[in-house]
This record gives sequence, C-alpha cells and structure tokens, in this order.
Amino acid sequence: MTGYSGPMRVLSGIQPSGGMHLGNYLGAIRKFVDLQHEYDCLFCVVDMHAITVWQDPAKLREQTFHIAASYLAAGVDPNIAAIFHQSGVRAHAELAWIFNCVARLGWLDRMTQFKDKAGKDKERASVGLYTYPVLQAADILVYKATHVPVGEDQKQHLELSRDIAGKFNHDFKVDDFFPLPEPLIKGPGARVMSLRDGTAKMSKSDASENACIFLKDDADAIARKIKKAKTDPEPLPSETDGLAVRPEAANLVGIYAALSGRTDAQVLAEFGGQGFGVFKPALADLVVDKIAPIGAELNRLEADPGYLAQVLEEGAARAAAVADPIVRDVKEIVGFLV
Ligand code: AMP
Ligand code: TRP
Repeated sequence: MTGYSGPMRVLSGIQPSGGMHLGNYLGAIRKFVDLQHEYDCLFCVVDMHAITVWQDPAKLREQTFHIAASYLAAGVDPNIAAIFHQSGVRAHAELAWIFNCVARLGWLDRMTQFKDKAGKDKERASVGLYTYPVLQAADILVYKATHVPVGEDQKQHLELSRDIAGKFNHDFKVDDFFPLPEPLIKGPGARVMSLRDGTAKMSKSDASENACIFLKDDADAIARKIKKAKTDPEPLPSETDGLAVRPEAANLVGIYAALSGRTDAQVLAEFGGQGFGVFKPALADLVVDKIAPIGAELNRLEADPGYLAQVLEEGAARAAAVADPIVRDVKEIVGFLV
C-alpha cells in the first residue's frame, strides 16, 4: 500500500451458496465483528459470484437472506457497517468489466480455485467462473478498500487483486489511485478443517454431513458431530510439536483455541496427556456455548425476511454512495465519456 493515502476501509464478501459453518465464522465473520469498531466496513453477500455455478433462483434468494442474517446474528451492526448484496450495487459489474481488460489470461490460468471448482471438464465451466477473481478485485477496489478479512483459501485471489490494482495504476499512470489491498488472514481459525479429514478444509459441500458444523446446528447435532469426529488413538500431546503429524487432533485443538481465545499451547497445557474421551465433550460444550446462541438468533432473523431485505437495501444505498464516485473517476481515467 506504499504511497496510498486514502482512508482505511474494510471490505469482505461471502457467497450465498450454502449454509454458514464454523469455518466461515472463525475464518471470516468473527473478524468482521471486531473490525467494525476500528474501520469503515462494508460486508457483502456476493450473489454475482454464487451464479458462476448453477444456483436455483428461489434458493439463491433464501441463501442471500441466510448470509445477511449470519452477519447480523454474529454481531455485525448494520448501523455501523454496511451489509448489502453485491448485485444491488451496479458499480461492481461496471468495474469488473474494466478489470477484465486489465487482468491477463496468464494470471487467471494460475488460479487454483478455478482448477478445483471446474474439475476435469473445464470446457463446460462458465466463463464467469474463470473471471471470478476479477469480479472479486472489483468488489474490493470499487470502494478502494485497504483491508480484506478472509480465510486462508483466499490468499491467491487477494494477490490477484493487488496485481490488478498495481497494473491499473501503472498503465494509466495514476500512482496510488487504487490501494494495494492487504489480506487480513492471520489468527486462529484461518483454516478450519473437516471433522472427517484433517487434511481437507471444512466446506459446506462436503459429502459427509458430519464433516461440517453449521451455525444453525442445534446442541445435539453439534455434540453428535464432535463425538463422531475422526481422531487417532493417542492422548493429546503436551506440546504443539506433537500435533505436527496429527492433522485431526491439530484441527480440534485449533477449534478449541480459536473459540476460547487461547493459543494451541495453552489448550495443550490444560488437556495434554488426556484422551479424546475427555477432550471431545469439553470441546462440544464450548462449541455449543459459542455457536448455539448465534444459531438461535439466525433462526429468529430468518423468520423476518422483510427486515433483512430492508437492511440489505439500506446497505446497498450506502455502498453505492461510496462506489459511484470512484467508478466515475475510473471511467474518466480510462477515457470514457462521463
Ligand atoms: P465461502 O463460503 O467459500 O464464500 O467463504 C466465505 C469466507 O469464509 C471466506 O473468507 C473464506 O476464506 C472463509 N472460509 C471458508 N471456509 C473456511 C474454512 N474451512 N476455514 C476458515 N475460513 C474459511
Ligand atoms: N471469493 C470469496 C470466497 O469464496 C468471496 C468473495 C467475493 C470475497 N468477493 C470478495 C471475499 C471480496 C473478500 C472480498 O470466499
């Protein structure tokens, strides 16, 4: 962000393509709640990203409300941060087109998320899935956001956003017009793993329903999933070194640490030498304690879609008021008539 002197601003987004889970909460939403008191914040439901793969229209609307309700239930205050849907602010699509002409094919060819999501038959993937990271760069830079809280899987996309910002500034000779946005990834919970496989990230699309704790899971479901979580027969080590080759144990300790505000080492100082028969019930109690109230609030909010629609509409108007003058400047820089 070398010479950029504009205001500090935070933007992040989540796709309305499935239920919010513990990974989304620890990797992203929980950070939003803290950041709103420090920065000017915008939190988006990225419905335009969601349709890069097929979405049933009725479900898409429902999921959009679900993400908005998750932000609110976790503690994002709509009077402080703008909560809105991406398709409600036209500036995202306008800037994305211009960025499509800045980004290079070679850059997009390296994106691992495209390779993962497109699978073997990439000829049949949508063009939108390929240019997905370009739209993400537009989401961020249309507000000149300087900081982007995300989980670790978004690191490569953030690097691309920085490359696009840098190339735009360079090609049009407008030094520091766009900031080079900084990812905010570090911290416990940046990469929560599946409960069934400690080497795969926790994901809403996991085939096993026991792999993922959803924010809407009730206390019984949470306890059952943790009880069934894959582990090994050894007791927990007393030092973090002992977790290195035990991904499932490391994941459960990491979740405990992230939710209790302690380090892995502090958790092991308490539970080292104990078996999972002791640790799992303690973890289940902690997860229930922290997540079940959010789930209850989420259910309450989802029962009031009128309120959620109003939050999103007001948020979109606030966001557009920031983005529109920036897009106007971009158009002028590019040489469009404004
Ligand atoms: P997505 O649900 O893929 O749109 O992700 C929304 C946000 O949650 C992004 O910031 C992701 O980096 C984050 N996230 C998703 N899965 C995980 C996970 N298993 N651990 C930590 N963060 C995650
Ligand atoms: N690609 C992100 C994900 O899958 C979602 C996203 C879209 C995003 N636009 C963004 C995240 C802008 C941060 C900033 O999780």
